[in-house]
Amino acid sequence: MERKDFLRSLGAGAAFALTFPCLNGCSNSEDLEQFPEPDGVDFTVDLTSAEATPLATNGGFILVSSNPSLGYTDIVVARNLQGELIAASQICSHQQTEEVRFISEDGGIFRCSTHGSRFDQDGTPLNSVTSNPLRVFNTELVDDNTLRVFETLMA
Ligand code: FES
Repeated sequence: MERKDFLRSLGAGAAFALTFPCLNGCSNSEDLEQFPEPDGVDFTVDLTSAEATPLATNGGFILVSSNPSLGYTDIVVARNLQGELIAASQICSHQQTEEVRFISEDGGIFRCSTHGSRFDQDGTPLNSVTSNPLRVFNTELVDDNTLRVFETLMA
């Protein structure tokens, strides 16, 4: 029996599953634009700036660069559904695309649209796409209008 006859005998659904086994979970990383995960994070956000306007609303988020010399954004700063300011890597811990965003589902989580990984606000993976935690960062209000985003360096 030839391959096409074999696939036809299985039916369209099975043939699709055999032919495209990795559509949603294991893309060839060479097809993806990958970025280094942020490192040495320590910067501030002017909460009065126009760019920070989404942070005035619970569930809002902005994408910012941990270092302006990067030329791209790599941090998601969000106001969670409880009104707290939180921050995580925009670079996914699965295959390092820059598609992590904050979404208001399930009480507020981080999600990467590349393959659908979901992370709790502490970076814990919430589905089987990856077991690698998402990097999350500390936040503190320096004053009423300035948010510091930083990581705690390991000793
Ligand atoms: S790169 Fe695969 S889920 Fe984010």
